[in-house]
Amino acid sequence: MKTKQHKKPAGNPVKNDAGKSRLTPNKTSQKTESTRIATKPAVEKIRRTPAQIRSATTDNARSESRTPGRTAPAARGKSAPAKTPPGKMRQPTEKTKGFSAQDEAAKPRRTGTKLTRLLDLNVVATPMPGKTIKSRPAYASNSPTTQWLLYCRPGFEKDCAQEAVAHARAQRPVLAEQPDIITDSGYSTIILNEQSLNYSELIFARQLMQLHNTIAPLPERDRLTPLLLAINALPGKFGTLWLEVPDTNEGKTLSAFIRRFSPLLEEALRKQGKLVNDTPEANLPRLHIFFPDKSSALIASSNKYNSAASLMGIVRQSMPAEAPSRSTLKLAEAIEVFLDKSAQSRLLRSGMTAVDLGAAPGGWTWQMVKRGIRVTAVDNGDMKGVLAKNPMVEHLKEDGFKFTPRKSVDWLICDMVEKPGKVAELIGNWFVKGWCKHAIFNLKLPMKQRVTALDSALGGIRKQLNMEGINYKLIAKQLYHDREEITVFLSKIR
Ligand SMILES: C[S@@+](CC[C@H](N)C(=O)[O-])C[C@H]1O[C@@H](n2cnc3c(N)ncnc32)[C@H](O)[C@@H]1O
Repeated sequence: MKTKQHKKPAGNPVKNDAGKSRLTPNKTSQKTESTRIATKPAVEKIRRTPAQIRSATTDNARSESRTPGRTAPAARGKSAPAKTPPGKMRQPTEKTKGFSAQDEAAKPRRTGTKLTRLLDLNVVATPMPGKTIKSRPAYASNSPTTQWLLYCRPGFEKDCAQEAVAHARAQRPVLAEQPDIITDSGYSTIILNEQSLNYSELIFARQLMQLHNTIAPLPERDRLTPLLLAINALPGKFGTLWLEVPDTNEGKTLSAFIRRFSPLLEEALRKQGKLVNDTPEANLPRLHIFFPDKSSALIASSNKYNSAASLMGIVRQSMPAEAPSRSTLKLAEAIEVFLDKSAQSRLLRSGMTAVDLGAAPGGWTWQMVKRGIRVTAVDNGDMKGVLAKNPMVEHLKEDGFKFTPRKSVDWLICDMVEKPGKVAELIGNWFVKGWCKHAIFNLKLPMKQRVTALDSALGGIRKQLNMEGINYKLIAKQLYHDREEITVFLSKIR
């Protein structure tokens, strides 16, 4: 049986001499106008004037482990780049940089990448199940490439891809033209050269995987054979097999199929020796088979130390009957995602103290109280249920932005619905004044320019703490229980 390459993500993968996948332009693949969203302004080309570039802040990278001092010019790469000897990194030409020579001269040296300076990512409507997703040629460079598959909350595909490409750009220019984005699909694919991505630095990615192959259409009568062929062509063995679907309504309709199909595929892969029991020494990669729909499959792998440790990148929580609100699930998930078991027992100990800003009706406070932590709950609204009268809780009907603690506390938690910049400044002040050691807080995302707002809010906190010489750890993620928001963990370190 032939394995037909899915055209959407990146043209036709082929092996280079080093055995790495790279991509050749897929000449037959042309995007049909019908697959494009009619309202083109959704995809804005962001072009800056030299004056705008000059005024751009240099403190805008969200990654603490970024490569210092590296400039990262944009490589829009719509025109075919000049030929480069195989194996060599192609230097961006004036054409591919996306900036004129004049712009380049006016540009300050950058230490990071502004998220608004991104590739022009194309947004296409979610294709009908079973249809091959059309794409224009996705690759136009001789450099070896890696394809990446990222899961995200449906509706955030563009943010997810933009952020990942920005992180790659902070390392070196991204030469490949990027695959189309499928709105509300719950995943994005990107193509990089030799850059790497760090899962813990990505906010919108629920899961980070290297994409090896796409099979579409996947024949209804025999899905197993083409998958086995493609998996067997991959080098090495795998320690875990995860069959996954997008976190969408369509994804939910596939769960019965996944349950039936999973043992068949697992048995066949074990028989062929491709799937084996992992050991700490072997530290084998996970194999992900992702079904965007019933008739296509993306074959990917993840490194256990650079990915989420949960199926579909989702840490599910069950609703505790006693908790006063469903918001409790957000903090429960944040604790699981940001703190490993040892950090949880060190940092969330009985006898500690916390302030909860925007506490009512009490879901977050409840998470602290159940761990034996005393909470000052600040909110004009009422605390409900078991927290309405609780000796572990002092409820103050005050403005969270004006409240000052009598004594410093171990934890600040904050879920106030406010502009992200305003909340970020408040949190930064608490750390600068030494009022708390650790914080978990939400940043609500605006409807438009979400990544820019986030970039500026988190950049503001970093700036505040850096200016005071405070060492810190900051991790930000859009959690499963986050909707139009993200959750941030900030902790002072010695
Ligand atoms: C999303 S709810 C918080 C839910 C809460 N974390 C829970 O788990 O039940 C947001 C809360 O922020 C409060 N809030 C908004 N602005 C505030 C302010 N300036 N000061 C204090 N509370 C505020 C609102 O009254 C509201 O109760």
